[in-house]
Amino acid sequence: MYPYHVPLVWTAFIALFAGLSYRLVSMARLAAREKTVLPTLDAKYGARSILHWVIPFNSRNMRMRPLFTVVSFAFHICLLATPLLLMGHAVLWKTAWGLRWWSLPPVVADATTLVVIAGGVFFLLRRIAAPEVRKVTAVSDFLLVLLVISPFLTGFVARMQWFRSSIPYSTMITIHIVAGALWLAAIPFTRLSHMLWFVFSRAYMGSEFGAIRRARDW
Ligand code: HEM
Ligand code: HEM
Repeated sequence: MYPYHVPLVWTAFIALFAGLSYRLVSMARLAAREKTVLPTLDAKYGARSILHWVIPFNSRNMRMRPLFTVVSFAFHICLLATPLLLMGHAVLWKTAWGLRWWSLPPVVADATTLVVIAGGVFFLLRRIAAPEVRKVTAVSDFLLVLLVISPFLTGFVARMQWFRSSIPYSTMITIHIVAGALWLAAIPFTRLSHMLWFVFSRAYMGSEFGAIRRARDW
């Protein structure tokens, strides 16, 4: 990382954490104004629903779409684990803050990176091929998936030193850091904020189905 990358990385992390806090506080205020939401929440049924939906094939919906389920779980696990457990990133934490961090063996990180890219391509093709998804797809949905895989593509190209004769390594890393910064900053302000809402929407559905309708929501 070069000194001119530092303000960009700081801006991205501040946008991520300030954005997530802002979205959480505004959603909590909105929920508090809705008379039925908070009183419906029930710890036992909420936790039961979350647990059912984070275990692969533990809901009827997942069992009905096995390929999608496998791709989605593999995609999300690799998407979260790779940037957090990457040796190239751990080195940066160590140099900047003296922090020691776990890292995946490089060959494993290469594989998890490729899983994310392949998962992204699958989501893009699915939006073209499945009529029920195509109907509700806008150009922005394609752009968002491309944004999500862009740090993985550019990080992989940089690491493999591909196209080095036409794009110097330092330029590729700069492109990677811009892609990574946009990725981080986009999470709170786009549909990627589903990362936050998953737990709450499942907790609500689980509570309403379990405590009121006496039914399952998985
Ligand atoms: C914004 C700050 C970021 C910085 C400063 C940064 C920096 C780096 C560096 C220095 C490398 C090593 C390249 C090499 O080995 O030659 C790398 C690789 C990589 N980065 Fe980042 N990165 C950032 C954000 C991200 C984000 C947000 C993601 C994913 C969401 C990401 C995913 C990757 C991947 C997948 C690789 C290559 C993996 C492999 O070894 O195959 N990076 N990054
Ligand atoms: C731990 C937090 C997260 C959870 C629980 C989660 C959950 C989900 C769920 C339930 C779906 C719908 C597809 C399905 O039913 O499997 C989905 C789709 C998706 N998620 Fe996540 N997600 C999380 C974090 C993220 C993050 C951090 C990103 C990227 C920054 C991301 C990117 C995507 C993409 C690209 C799709 C597919 C969208 C499409 O079909 O166009 N997710 N996620």
